[in-house]
Amino acid sequence: MSQVTEYSDKVMDHFMHPRNVGEMENPSGVGTVGNAKCGDIMRMYLDIDDQGIVRDAKFKTFGCGAAVATSSMATELVRGKTIQEAMAVTNKAVMEALDGLPKVKIHCSLLAEQAIHAALWDYAEKHGIKIDGLKPPVNDIDETDEFCKMTDA
Ligand code: FES
Repeated sequence: MSQVTEYSDKVMDHFMHPRNVGEMENPSGVGTVGNAKCGDIMRMYLDIDDQGIVRDAKFKTFGCGAAVATSSMATELVRGKTIQEAMAVTNKAVMEALDGLPKVKIHCSLLAEQAIHAALWDYAEKHGIKIDGLKPPVNDIDETDEFCKMTDA
């Protein structure tokens, strides 16, 4: 991917018209992660059926435009996918789908990948299963954290 210095049309579209924003009642898995570099937060909800297919994904982001755009694209990419395919929705895959991000905003795209993994981790824990290649969330946010509650407002 060539280096980009400004937001692509796709990034602007997903920032201005984010897909799948919101919360989910009784999600199969939910993960909340924070970006160590800037302190921004993302929460990802996944609805996974009995066949292990991601039926729906929703997100809430307390972060910058690039974080909103990458979360939006990430939810679009994981919908209809198997768990293993959802695992492959890395920040690189999300950035490619958005036609790139400026170098200084690449760290923002990590939130989306980490939030998907955190939600899958939650799903796996609830169902007592192990997902190949999935590691415990690194920047998991304590759901009882005051700052986290603020973002629910
Ligand atoms: Fe924090 Fe982009 S500056 S996620």
